[in-house]
Amino acid sequence: MATAILGMQWGDEGKGKVTHLLAKGADLVVRFNGGPNAGHTVIDRGVRFGTHLVPAGVFYPGVLSVLANGMVIDLEVLGQEMAEISLHLGGRPKLLLSETAHLILPYHRMVEDLEGMTGKFGTTRRGIAPAYRDRAAKAGVRVGDLLAPSRLRERIAERLDALARAWPGSQEVQGLSAQKLAADLLSQAGPFLEDIGDASGTIRRALDAGQNVLFEGAQGALLDLDFGTYPYVTSSSTTLAGLPNGIGVPLVDVERRIGVAKAYLTRVGDGPFPTELSEDVADYLRGKGGEFGTTTGRPRRCGWLDLVALRHAVTLNAPTHLAITKLDILSGMDEIKVCVAYRLRGSQISRFPLAAEDLAQCTPVYETLPGWSENLRGVREYDALPKEARSYLATIVENVGVPVGLVSVGAAPEETVETGFDSP
Ligand code: IMP
Repeated sequence: MATAILGMQWGDEGKGKVTHLLAKGADLVVRFNGGPNAGHTVIDRGVRFGTHLVPAGVFYPGVLSVLANGMVIDLEVLGQEMAEISLHLGGRPKLLLSETAHLILPYHRMVEDLEGMTGKFGTTRRGIAPAYRDRAAKAGVRVGDLLAPSRLRERIAERLDALARAWPGSQEVQGLSAQKLAADLLSQAGPFLEDIGDASGTIRRALDAGQNVLFEGAQGALLDLDFGTYPYVTSSSTTLAGLPNGIGVPLVDVERRIGVAKAYLTRVGDGPFPTELSEDVADYLRGKGGEFGTTTGRPRRCGWLDLVALRHAVTLNAPTHLAITKLDILSGMDEIKVCVAYRLRGSQISRFPLAAEDLAQCTPVYETLPGWSENLRGVREYDALPKEARSYLATIVENVGVPVGLVSVGAAPEETVETGFDSP
């Protein structure tokens, strides 16, 4: 059984909790895109973690955690994360690092700063875009290079020469030494050298053997490099289409595809956001929902659920089910709005414009639904949800045509209403 967990919005949908829940009984849990820009929140046995690189299934002893070729990996972050998790688990989890994944080096963060990417696009300052750019320009350093130190030094030296020519005025760049960078990398990589291998082969064999494989997407459909709100996007393919490429296994038959969407909408970083709320309601959602970046701590922009954007994510991810998260945060509102269409240059449209400039000119057409006052955190059965909450969920299903398999009503694993992922 193969299951994909995919973000349907601008990230931060709650993929970590959903992965952690479904990873029980999994053989492999695989991250296939992005890097430490992700921050997947998991509460494991009462302890809260924000996982950045390691898949959120890592907390189960039998699971092999795979960082596949589509990722960009920062060894310093990986070392810290693995140390914390190993301490919590009382032992080291099983890990496999794809030899063809790319490494984030210190100069990637420098270039992100030198080019002002964070100011321009609201990037996470984790070196993501420069690392993916080096990959595309055939100037990257790969995990497998760690096994061949002289090749590693050579590749870094070539890159440093080019950077020194590009940034003659930067003392930081001019001060970099290939010998030192390689030595630092090799020392960070020390604990992981035996975990490096052919991840795509391992994934293929697991799928052929009918093992339970979970693919954990990072970011969300609206941050996809091609089909998101370009250029206010991340630098990887965040959708189902990115999955085969990110694991190196063609035509994977992913039977269960779970699209994770928050009951309202958030965005961190710049870019158009038609249903964004200002002041009171946004402050309420941000405060109650703890809407601050797991990776950067930045306050997230908050808005009403956008069903036009969600339909776009459905076309990109073909989910068999939705997981709706943070429904509990909407308790206590007199009324709740959902965006069902946009108005753009005098016309009403129901499709999501691919040009960010067009999306920025869209104004939402809302349907207003009654709210509910009950606290949902103790609810475990769908029928025990207030009727207004059920009708809110029904509106989502009617508009996007995908059934809901799980509703999250709190951060803890047990604060979940499972309606089932088995039947479509
Ligand atoms: P980058 O991925 O650091 O290059 O950032 C590009 C955009 O994606 C920025 O708007 C970030 O805030 C956003 N972004 C990247 N990763 C995440 C995530 O895991 N959650 C939410 N937003 C993200």
